[in-house]
Amino acid sequence: MTQNIPRTQSWIGELPGKLRMIDQTRLPEEFVEIDCESVQQVWDAIKRLSVRGAPAIGVSAAYGTVIGVQTETNLSRAGFNQKLNEVTDYLASSRPTAVNLFWALERMKNVAAAIPDASPADVVERLLSEARTIEHEDREMCAAIGRHGESLMPADGGVLTHCNAGGLATAGDGTALSVLFAASATGKKIHVYADETRPLLQGARLTSWECLQRNVPVTVICDSMAALVMREKKVKAVVTGADRIAANGDAANKIGTYSVAVLARAHGIPFYVAAPSSTFDLSLASGNLIPIEERAREEISHSFGKQTVPDGVAVWNPAFDVTPAELISGIITERGVIAPVNTETVAAMIDAAASAQASHST
Ligand code: MRU
Repeated sequence: MTQNIPRTQSWIGELPGKLRMIDQTRLPEEFVEIDCESVQQVWDAIKRLSVRGAPAIGVSAAYGTVIGVQTETNLSRAGFNQKLNEVTDYLASSRPTAVNLFWALERMKNVAAAIPDASPADVVERLLSEARTIEHEDREMCAAIGRHGESLMPADGGVLTHCNAGGLATAGDGTALSVLFAASATGKKIHVYADETRPLLQGARLTSWECLQRNVPVTVICDSMAALVMREKKVKAVVTGADRIAANGDAANKIGTYSVAVLARAHGIPFYVAAPSSTFDLSLASGNLIPIEERAREEISHSFGKQTVPDGVAVWNPAFDVTPAELISGIITERGVIAPVNTETVAAMIDAAASAQASHST
Protein backbone atom coordinates (compact mmCIF):
# COMPACT_ATOMS: atom_id res chain seq x y z
CA MET A 1 0.00 0.00 0.00
CA THR A 2 2.85 2.40 0.78
CA GLN A 3 5.26 1.34 -1.96
CA ASN A 4 4.81 4.46 -4.14
CA ILE A 5 4.95 6.90 -1.27
CA PRO A 6 8.45 8.21 -0.59
CA ARG A 7 9.89 7.74 2.86
CA THR A 8 9.71 10.74 5.16
CA GLN A 9 13.39 10.19 5.90
CA SER A 10 16.03 7.63 5.06
CA TRP A 11 19.66 6.99 5.80
CA ILE A 12 21.79 7.23 2.66
CA GLY A 13 24.99 5.21 2.38
CA GLU A 14 26.66 3.34 5.20
CA LEU A 15 29.30 5.05 7.32
CA PRO A 16 29.84 7.88 6.86
CA GLY A 17 26.30 8.48 5.63
CA LYS A 18 23.70 11.20 5.54
CA LEU A 19 20.04 11.67 6.36
CA ARG A 20 17.70 12.41 3.46
CA MET A 21 14.28 13.79 4.31
CA ILE A 22 11.26 15.32 2.64
CA ASP A 23 11.29 19.06 3.31
CA GLN A 24 7.77 19.28 4.71
CA THR A 25 7.84 23.08 4.75
CA ARG A 26 7.67 23.02 0.93
CA LEU A 27 4.61 20.75 0.61
CA PRO A 28 2.21 20.79 -1.12
CA GLU A 29 3.66 23.33 -3.54
CA GLU A 30 6.71 21.27 -4.32
CA PHE A 31 8.15 17.92 -3.37
CA VAL A 32 11.76 18.46 -2.36
CA GLU A 33 14.14 16.21 -0.46
CA ILE A 34 17.05 17.63 1.50
CA ASP A 35 20.20 15.92 2.71
CA CYS A 36 21.55 16.52 6.21
CA GLU A 37 25.26 15.88 6.52
CA SER A 38 25.96 17.74 9.76
CA VAL A 39 24.30 17.70 13.15
CA GLN A 40 23.53 21.43 12.73
CA GLN A 41 21.57 20.63 9.57
CA VAL A 42 19.54 17.99 11.43
CA TRP A 43 18.88 20.42 14.32
CA ASP A 44 17.75 23.10 11.87
CA ALA A 45 15.52 20.66 10.00
CA ILE A 46 13.77 19.73 13.25
CA LYS A 47 13.55 23.34 14.45
CA ARG A 48 12.09 24.77 11.25
CA LEU A 49 9.73 21.75 10.83
CA SER A 50 11.26 20.34 7.64
CA VAL A 51 10.84 17.13 9.62
CA ARG A 52 8.09 17.22 12.21
CA GLY A 53 5.65 15.02 14.08
CA ALA A 54 6.76 13.37 17.31
CA PRO A 55 7.90 9.94 16.03
CA ALA A 56 9.64 11.39 12.95
CA ILE A 57 11.51 13.86 15.15
CA GLY A 58 12.70 10.92 17.27
CA VAL A 59 13.95 9.01 14.22
CA SER A 60 15.72 12.12 12.87
CA ALA A 61 17.40 12.73 16.20
CA ALA A 62 18.65 9.13 16.29
CA TYR A 63 20.21 9.45 12.82
CA GLY A 64 21.37 12.97 13.72
CA THR A 65 23.32 11.47 16.60
CA VAL A 66 25.13 9.17 14.18
CA ILE A 67 25.90 12.12 11.91
CA GLY A 68 27.29 14.06 14.86
CA VAL A 69 29.82 11.40 15.86
CA GLN A 70 30.51 9.37 12.73
CA THR A 71 33.75 11.19 11.89
CA GLU A 72 35.01 11.24 15.50
CA THR A 73 36.48 7.75 15.44
CA ASN A 74 40.05 8.95 16.03
CA LEU A 75 39.16 10.28 19.48
CA SER A 76 39.92 8.39 22.68
CA ARG A 77 36.88 6.63 24.04
CA ALA A 78 36.54 9.30 26.76
CA GLY A 79 36.74 12.05 24.16
CA PHE A 80 34.21 10.24 22.01
CA ASN A 81 31.80 9.91 24.95
CA GLN A 82 32.07 13.63 25.58
CA LYS A 83 31.37 14.39 21.93
CA LEU A 84 28.37 12.05 21.99
CA ASN A 85 26.96 13.90 25.00
CA GLU A 86 27.47 17.25 23.30
CA VAL A 87 25.69 16.03 20.18
CA THR A 88 22.71 14.55 22.03
CA ASP A 89 22.38 17.63 24.28
CA TYR A 90 22.42 19.83 21.22
CA LEU A 91 19.76 17.80 19.40
CA ALA A 92 17.65 17.75 22.58
CA SER A 93 17.55 21.56 22.46
CA SER A 94 15.76 21.63 19.09
CA ARG A 95 12.14 21.27 20.27
CA PRO A 96 10.82 20.72 23.83
CA THR A 97 7.40 19.07 23.64
CA ALA A 98 7.57 15.81 21.69
CA VAL A 99 8.99 13.30 24.13
CA ASN A 100 9.97 10.94 21.30
CA LEU A 101 12.96 13.22 20.74
CA PHE A 102 14.34 12.63 24.25
CA TRP A 103 13.28 8.98 24.22
CA ALA A 104 15.29 8.34 21.03
CA LEU A 105 18.35 10.26 22.24
CA GLU A 106 18.31 8.34 25.51
CA ARG A 107 18.21 5.07 23.61
CA MET A 108 21.22 6.15 21.58
CA LYS A 109 23.20 7.12 24.69
CA ASN A 110 22.28 3.85 26.39
CA VAL A 111 23.67 1.89 23.45
CA ALA A 112 27.06 3.57 23.82
CA ALA A 113 27.03 3.24 27.61
CA ALA A 114 26.38 -0.50 27.36
CA ILE A 115 29.68 -1.10 25.50
CA PRO A 116 32.20 0.99 27.50
CA ASP A 117 35.22 -0.88 26.17
CA ALA A 118 34.30 -0.75 22.50
CA SER A 119 36.27 1.47 20.12
CA PRO A 120 34.60 4.66 18.84
CA ALA A 121 34.33 3.08 15.38
CA ASP A 122 32.47 0.10 16.83
CA VAL A 123 30.19 2.38 18.85
CA VAL A 124 29.33 4.38 15.73
CA GLU A 125 28.33 1.16 13.98
CA ARG A 126 26.13 0.19 16.92
CA LEU A 127 24.57 3.66 16.95
CA LEU A 128 23.66 3.41 13.28
CA SER A 129 22.15 0.01 13.88
CA GLU A 130 20.12 1.40 16.82
CA ALA A 131 18.85 4.32 14.72
CA ARG A 132 17.75 1.84 12.06
CA THR A 133 16.02 -0.22 14.76
CA ILE A 134 14.18 2.85 16.09
CA GLU A 135 13.00 3.62 12.55
CA HIS A 136 11.94 0.03 11.93
CA GLU A 137 10.12 -0.24 15.27
CA ASP A 138 8.27 2.97 14.57
CA ARG A 139 7.05 1.56 11.25
CA GLU A 140 5.81 -1.56 13.04
CA MET A 141 4.14 0.52 15.77
CA CYS A 142 2.26 2.56 13.17
CA ALA A 143 0.94 -0.61 11.55
CA ALA A 144 -0.16 -2.03 14.91
CA ILE A 145 -1.90 1.25 15.85
CA GLY A 146 -3.82 0.99 12.59
CA ARG A 147 -4.85 -2.58 13.36
CA HIS A 148 -6.00 -1.73 16.89
CA GLY A 149 -7.82 1.44 15.89
CA GLU A 150 -9.68 0.61 12.71
CA SER A 151 -12.55 -1.18 14.45
CA LEU A 152 -13.29 2.03 16.39
CA MET A 153 -13.96 3.92 13.18
CA PRO A 154 -17.45 4.22 11.68
CA ALA A 155 -18.42 1.94 8.78
CA ASP A 156 -19.45 4.97 6.80
CA GLY A 157 -18.93 8.61 7.72
CA GLY A 158 -16.70 11.54 8.49
CA VAL A 159 -13.74 11.43 10.85
CA LEU A 160 -12.05 14.65 11.85
CA THR A 161 -8.33 14.94 12.48
CA HIS A 162 -6.12 17.84 13.53
CA CYS A 163 -2.59 18.65 12.38
CA ASN A 164 -0.75 15.81 10.63
CA ALA A 165 -0.27 12.50 12.37
CA GLY A 166 0.41 10.58 9.18
CA GLY A 167 3.31 8.98 7.39
CA LEU A 168 5.07 12.34 7.19
CA ALA A 169 5.08 12.48 10.99
CA THR A 170 6.42 8.94 11.48
CA ALA A 171 8.52 6.27 9.82
CA GLY A 172 5.43 4.31 8.80
CA ASP A 173 1.80 5.05 7.94
CA GLY A 174 1.29 7.44 10.84
CA THR A 175 -0.67 7.19 14.05
CA ALA A 176 -4.08 8.86 13.63
CA LEU A 177 -3.87 8.51 9.86
CA SER A 178 -2.76 4.89 10.15
CA VAL A 179 -6.09 4.22 11.89
CA LEU A 180 -7.97 5.98 9.08
CA PHE A 181 -5.96 4.32 6.31
CA ALA A 182 -6.46 0.89 7.94
CA ALA A 183 -10.21 1.50 8.27
CA SER A 184 -10.40 2.54 4.61
CA ALA A 185 -8.42 -0.53 3.61
CA THR A 186 -10.99 -2.78 5.27
CA GLY A 187 -13.69 -1.23 3.07
CA LYS A 188 -15.05 1.35 5.48
CA LYS A 189 -16.24 4.51 3.74
CA ILE A 190 -14.20 7.02 5.70
CA HIS A 191 -14.26 10.67 4.74
CA VAL A 192 -11.49 12.61 6.45
CA TYR A 193 -12.13 16.13 7.65
CA ALA A 194 -8.72 17.77 8.04
CA ASP A 195 -8.52 20.88 10.20
CA GLU A 196 -6.21 23.27 8.38
CA THR A 197 -4.25 23.66 11.65
CA ARG A 198 -3.16 27.25 12.06
CA PRO A 199 -0.64 28.73 12.09
CA LEU A 200 1.52 26.38 10.00
CA LEU A 201 -1.24 24.47 8.21
CA GLN A 202 -0.04 20.91 8.73
CA GLY A 203 -3.60 19.69 8.19
CA ALA A 204 -4.24 21.65 5.00
CA ARG A 205 -0.80 21.11 3.52
CA LEU A 206 0.21 17.64 4.74
CA THR A 207 -2.76 15.57 5.91
CA SER A 208 -4.74 16.33 2.76
CA TRP A 209 -1.64 15.58 0.65
CA GLU A 210 -1.29 12.18 2.30
CA CYS A 211 -4.99 11.37 1.89
CA LEU A 212 -4.68 12.26 -1.78
CA GLN A 213 -1.74 9.86 -2.18
CA ARG A 214 -3.87 7.13 -0.59
CA ASN A 215 -7.09 7.87 -2.44
CA VAL A 216 -8.87 8.51 0.86
CA PRO A 217 -11.55 11.23 0.44
CA VAL A 218 -10.64 14.35 2.37
CA THR A 219 -12.10 17.80 2.95
CA VAL A 220 -10.02 20.59 4.46
CA ILE A 221 -11.80 22.93 6.84
CA CYS A 222 -10.63 26.02 8.71
CA ASP A 223 -10.08 25.23 12.38
CA SER A 224 -13.03 27.44 13.29
CA MET A 225 -15.41 25.23 11.26
CA ALA A 226 -15.02 22.10 13.39
CA ALA A 227 -18.05 22.89 15.56
CA LEU A 228 -20.33 23.32 12.57
CA VAL A 229 -19.07 20.17 10.88
CA MET A 230 -19.78 18.24 14.07
CA ARG A 231 -23.19 19.82 14.56
CA GLU A 232 -24.23 18.97 11.03
CA LYS A 233 -23.32 15.37 11.82
CA LYS A 234 -20.69 15.18 9.16
CA VAL A 235 -18.28 13.75 11.73
CA LYS A 236 -18.75 10.50 13.67
CA ALA A 237 -15.36 10.35 15.40
CA VAL A 238 -12.21 12.38 15.95
CA VAL A 239 -8.69 10.91 15.90
CA THR A 240 -5.54 12.91 16.54
CA GLY A 241 -1.93 12.13 17.34
CA ALA A 242 0.02 13.22 20.42
CA ASP A 243 3.43 14.67 21.21
CA ARG A 244 3.59 13.63 24.85
CA ILE A 245 1.14 11.78 27.08
CA ALA A 246 1.43 12.09 30.85
CA ALA A 247 0.91 9.23 33.32
CA ASN A 248 -2.76 10.17 33.84
CA GLY A 249 -3.47 10.18 30.09
CA ASP A 250 -3.49 13.95 29.55
CA ALA A 251 -2.20 14.36 26.00
CA ALA A 252 -0.25 17.23 24.45
CA ASN A 253 -0.79 17.69 20.75
CA LYS A 254 -0.82 20.47 18.18
CA ILE A 255 -2.43 23.71 19.34
CA GLY A 256 -6.17 23.50 18.75
CA THR A 257 -6.53 19.83 19.66
CA TYR A 258 -7.96 20.72 23.07
CA SER A 259 -10.72 22.81 21.49
CA VAL A 260 -11.56 19.93 19.15
CA ALA A 261 -11.83 17.58 22.15
CA VAL A 262 -14.15 20.00 23.96
CA LEU A 263 -16.30 20.29 20.84
CA ALA A 264 -16.41 16.52 20.39
CA ARG A 265 -17.61 16.10 23.99
CA ALA A 266 -20.27 18.79 23.46
CA HIS A 267 -21.56 16.95 20.40
CA GLY A 268 -21.35 13.44 21.85
CA ILE A 269 -18.65 12.39 19.37
CA PRO A 270 -15.87 10.02 20.50
CA PHE A 271 -12.43 11.63 20.62
CA TYR A 272 -9.48 9.24 20.21
CA VAL A 273 -5.75 9.83 20.50
CA ALA A 274 -3.45 7.50 18.56
CA ALA A 275 0.15 7.27 19.77
CA PRO A 276 2.95 4.73 20.23
CA SER A 277 4.36 3.86 23.66
CA SER A 278 7.37 6.08 22.84
CA THR A 279 5.06 9.11 23.18
CA PHE A 280 4.19 8.37 26.83
CA ASP A 281 6.10 10.09 29.60
CA LEU A 282 5.12 8.35 32.82
CA SER A 283 7.53 10.55 34.79
CA LEU A 284 4.96 13.35 34.52
CA ALA A 285 1.91 12.82 36.71
CA SER A 286 -0.31 15.10 34.65
CA GLY A 287 -0.35 17.17 31.50
CA ASN A 288 0.25 20.40 33.45
CA LEU A 289 3.89 19.37 33.63
CA ILE A 290 4.38 18.94 29.89
CA PRO A 291 6.70 21.65 28.50
CA ILE A 292 4.91 23.55 25.75
CA GLU A 293 6.95 24.97 22.91
CA GLU A 294 6.39 28.62 22.08
CA ARG A 295 7.38 29.55 18.56
CA ALA A 296 8.30 32.78 16.79
CA ARG A 297 5.71 35.56 16.47
CA GLU A 298 6.35 35.72 12.71
CA GLU A 299 4.54 32.41 12.22
CA ILE A 300 1.38 34.33 13.10
CA SER A 301 2.25 37.93 12.26
CA HIS A 302 3.55 37.12 8.78
CA SER A 303 1.41 34.23 7.55
CA PHE A 304 1.20 33.14 3.94
CA GLY A 305 4.13 35.30 2.88
CA LYS A 306 2.54 38.60 3.92
CA GLN A 307 2.10 40.68 7.05
CA THR A 308 -1.08 39.59 8.85
CA VAL A 309 -0.70 41.41 12.19
CA PRO A 310 0.25 45.10 12.59
CA ASP A 311 3.73 45.83 13.95
CA GLY A 312 3.68 46.50 17.69
CA VAL A 313 0.76 44.16 18.40
CA ALA A 314 1.46 41.32 20.84
CA VAL A 315 1.32 37.77 19.50
CA TRP A 316 1.32 34.53 21.50
CA ASN A 317 2.29 31.38 19.65
CA PRO A 318 2.18 28.21 21.79
CA ALA A 319 2.64 25.27 19.40
CA PHE A 320 0.79 22.70 21.53
CA ASP A 321 -2.01 22.35 24.04
CA VAL A 322 -2.98 19.61 26.46
CA THR A 323 -6.23 17.68 26.21
CA PRO A 324 -7.33 16.42 29.64
CA ALA A 325 -7.73 12.64 29.91
CA GLU A 326 -11.43 12.95 30.78
CA LEU A 327 -12.12 14.24 27.27
CA ILE A 328 -10.34 11.29 25.61
CA SER A 329 -12.53 8.27 24.76
CA GLY A 330 -9.51 6.05 24.21
CA ILE A 331 -5.79 6.10 23.42
CA ILE A 332 -4.92 3.78 20.56
CA THR A 333 -1.41 2.39 21.06
CA GLU A 334 0.56 -0.35 19.31
CA ARG A 335 -0.29 -2.59 22.28
CA GLY A 336 -4.03 -2.03 22.31
CA VAL A 337 -6.58 0.63 23.21
CA ILE A 338 -6.49 2.34 26.61
CA ALA A 339 -10.09 3.06 27.65
CA PRO A 340 -11.20 4.57 29.92
CA VAL A 341 -8.14 6.81 30.17
CA ASN A 342 -6.69 7.29 33.65
CA THR A 343 -3.49 6.68 35.59
CA GLU A 344 -4.33 3.03 36.29
CA THR A 345 -5.30 2.10 32.74
CA VAL A 346 -2.29 3.93 31.28
CA ALA A 347 0.07 2.14 33.69
CA ALA A 348 -1.50 -1.20 32.84
CA MET A 349 -0.75 -0.73 29.13
CA ILE A 350 2.51 1.21 29.16
CA ASP A 351 5.69 -0.13 30.62
CA ALA A 352 7.05 2.38 33.15
CA ALA A 353 10.63 1.28 32.49
CA ALA A 354 10.34 2.05 28.78
CA SER A 355 8.98 5.51 29.28
CA ALA A 356 11.52 6.29 32.03
CA GLN A 357 14.20 6.44 29.32
CA ALA A 358 12.75 9.72 28.18
CA SER A 359 12.28 11.33 31.54
CA HIS A 360 15.98 11.48 32.37
CA SER A 361 16.79 13.99 29.67
CA THR A 362 13.84 16.34 29.86
O1 MRU B 1 4.60 20.97 15.27
P1 MRU B 1 4.42 19.61 14.69
O2 MRU B 1 3.98 19.64 13.25
O3 MRU B 1 5.64 18.74 14.90
O4 MRU B 1 3.22 18.96 15.52
C1 MRU B 1 2.87 17.63 15.24
C2 MRU B 1 1.71 17.14 15.99
O5 MRU B 1 1.16 17.80 16.82
C3 MRU B 1 1.31 15.72 15.72
O6 MRU B 1 -0.07 15.57 15.87
C4 MRU B 1 2.02 14.79 16.72
O7 MRU B 1 3.39 15.02 16.71
C5 MRU B 1 1.76 13.36 16.43
S1 MRU B 1 2.56 12.81 14.96
C6 MRU B 1 2.23 11.15 14.77
